[in-house]
Amino acid sequence: MMPDNDQALIEAQNYFNNTLRPVIVDKCVSCHEGKHNKNDRFNFSVFTNARNSATSMFNQVDAGTMPKDGDKLPQSEIDMFEEFRDLVNKIN
Ligand code: HEC
Repeated sequence: MMPDNDQALIEAQNYFNNTLRPVIVDKCVSCHEGKHNKNDRFNFSVFTNARNSATSMFNQVDAGTMPKDGDKLPQSEIDMFEEFRDLVNKIN
């Protein structure tokens, strides 16, 4: 049997690939893949980066400060960032 930790990691990865990543590609990478990709940490279309910034991403979209200079995301998409943060928090 797999340890719980691995199961949580797989769940977070699946949720990222199937649900959250398309939103990030659509709404975030135009900035975060290019010049605002400091030290390669902020390309959030890469799972490791998204995982490391899961809480920060949720806080930013929930506050409406990201996407920068854009409209606040619809609540359904903000909920996806929240779900991803919760899944990431179960990994450790
Ligand atoms: C129009 C460009 C632009 C778009 C689109 C954008 N961002 Fe940003 N983002 C920035 C800039 C620039 C910063 C650096 C801080 C600042 O200037 O506010 C930043 C900072 C951040 C940070 C803080 C990084 C850190 O830890 O210092 C997070 C998290 C973030 N953005 C998430 C997102 C998410 C999630 C999306 C998509 C929903 C998004 N951003 C879309 C330009 C953008």
